[in-house]
Amino acid sequence: MTDRTDASTSGMDNHANEARSFAPPAPFAAQANVDADAYGLGADSERFWADQARAMLTWKTPFTQTLDWSQAPVARWFADGTLNAAHNALDRHVQAGNGDRVALYFEGEPGDTRQVTYAELLTEVSRAANALQSLGVKTGDRVVIYMPMLVESVVTMLACARIGAPHSVVFGGFSADALRSRIEDAGARIVVTADGGWRRGAPAALKPAVDEAIAGLDPSHPGVDHVVVVRRTGQEIGWTQGRDLWWSEALEAADTRHDPVFVEAEHPLFILYTSGTTGKPKGILHTTGGYLTQAAWTHWAVFDLKADSDVYWCTADIGWITGHSYVVYGPLVNGASQVIYEGTPDAPHRGRWWEIVQKYKVSILYTAPTAIRTCMKWGEQIPAQFDLGSLRVLGSVGEPINPEAWMWYRRVIGGGSTPIVDTWWQTETGAIMISPLPGVTATKPGSAQVPLPGIGATVVDDDAAPVPNGAGGYLVITKPWPSMLRGIWGDLQRFKDTYWSRFPGIYFAGDGAKKDQDGDIWLLGRVDDVMNVSGHRLSTTEIESSLVAHESVAEAAVVGAADETTGQAVVAFVIVRAQFAELVTDPAQAAALQEQLRNHVGKQIGPIAKPRRILIVPELPKTRSGKIMRRLLRDVAENRTVGDATTLADSSVMNLIARKM
Ligand code: WTA
Repeated sequence: MTDRTDASTSGMDNHANEARSFAPPAPFAAQANVDADAYGLGADSERFWADQARAMLTWKTPFTQTLDWSQAPVARWFADGTLNAAHNALDRHVQAGNGDRVALYFEGEPGDTRQVTYAELLTEVSRAANALQSLGVKTGDRVVIYMPMLVESVVTMLACARIGAPHSVVFGGFSADALRSRIEDAGARIVVTADGGWRRGAPAALKPAVDEAIAGLDPSHPGVDHVVVVRRTGQEIGWTQGRDLWWSEALEAADTRHDPVFVEAEHPLFILYTSGTTGKPKGILHTTGGYLTQAAWTHWAVFDLKADSDVYWCTADIGWITGHSYVVYGPLVNGASQVIYEGTPDAPHRGRWWEIVQKYKVSILYTAPTAIRTCMKWGEQIPAQFDLGSLRVLGSVGEPINPEAWMWYRRVIGGGSTPIVDTWWQTETGAIMISPLPGVTATKPGSAQVPLPGIGATVVDDDAAPVPNGAGGYLVITKPWPSMLRGIWGDLQRFKDTYWSRFPGIYFAGDGAKKDQDGDIWLLGRVDDVMNVSGHRLSTTEIESSLVAHESVAEAAVVGAADETTGQAVVAFVIVRAQFAELVTDPAQAAALQEQLRNHVGKQIGPIAKPRRILIVPELPKTRSGKIMRRLLRDVAENRTVGDATTLADSSVMNLIARKM
């Protein structure tokens, strides 16, 4: 643990007074997929999840065992069953006569569109699976995907799943260095990418980063044999003969039929890298049967999905877990029709999202608080220009949603009556864990409220004792759940240390939380060195390592400072090396160096990790044992009076730093 146990600094301490509550509209409750009985059924969690696994999925070999926890904390769910994820997402819908249903309404940023039915998606995924196999990909091989939001991205993920080759999607906003380390860690020998994607009216290149990543691979890596490239923007790209090939040519040559590889329920489905408290990203491993069960059930229950009439839209990128569980696997396993959008909310105008909702009559919208706050800032006159009357459920994910943003979402986007589900979960949990049920729960602005049926979650104190109502502590998960991570790729010990050592036997989520007088759970932000910027997880340590890797930096400390729009913003405090000390006394030179450092971090990790501000300081506040007191730096970054500094080795340090603001 670090000194950051003061989770209230996330700016969420105002909800102690939140008394508003909104019961589900009676007509909504009457037609909802799930009623209050689900909580009773969920009390026997193993039986509950076994029932959902049978109801939501089609198994090749039915399972007879539900949970094997004998090798805790690595769970095995439904272990003697076999199935295929792509078969569940595609073939069975086509076989059931729903092949003509639209699976994807693709909206490109420049305005190009494409509708893909389940039957068409099956054909394309089969082609891609054949193409990957003809390139040598076998069951168990890892495939790295580095793409924008395109139909082809969904196709590639499902093609991998179809042959039992775990995919590892790397967010397109990550740098070549970040991509390289993920290719290395996953041991991937094939990368699927695009020339680029459209961002704010301009092509943003992806392929050059792939070339750079591969060129920089550690000699211990066997090398990347093939790079498959989707042509999206048409921009000029470099080409390595024999290694690179066009997606269109690879697929054209491939057969439209493909027999899915049925795998054991515990076969790896994907690895997704996420920031941890140390510099090295963690490869979160998810397997097939349990993951699909919970992704599908939660998508159906929490969003009240009616597959034959709803149009669903989750705005997340496939580079994040939300894109995996609630763009690809949950919705497609459930046979939903959904929108996927390539670009940014303000291209070419700030009403683009609402125009899309109107155009496709979106009925379920799932997005992040940072996006809602951005739209609030742009003004409600923008969504007011569009007909949003089709919306019937609104979802939020990624960070605590402040009550003002929640109320705005409900009133301006939801017409004042639409249920809002504030869903708490993590890359590690694989699927939603804590959320209201839209036809059951009287919702409270700012609270994720209740663990879903079949999920054991509570708030505990330092000694692992559940806190009484009205008190705060740490969020923990008390029972194994089907979509839980099965480990960190290649590092079982780190998995145990990170999640299972703080409170033996129960899962430590890393979030602060509190229970209100009704026992409802309010999330308060991270209690470790993980920041949350626009719903993206960033590690303070990773950015600090990047900064000190620059020739001018001797030492660095990074904090997440509260930010009205992005939740948190990255603020870095750096001490420059002696030979640069003279230079930075000149304000122009200092500004140039600050800009250089921002770009350096952008290049090493990705643009989202660029510090909003970099302060060049003479000292950092440290305890006598040498630990940086980030709490004090956050006070400075958030323009607060600096708190208790008595444990500092040198108490004059804070005066020196504060003068720099
Ligand atoms: C935060 C995203 C409050 C939390 C699905 C968690 C939330 C981290 C919420 C996981 C929410 C996510 N309310 N906080 N509804 N949803 N978080 O892995 O700190 O990108 O630990 O998964 O986001 O982020 P990740």
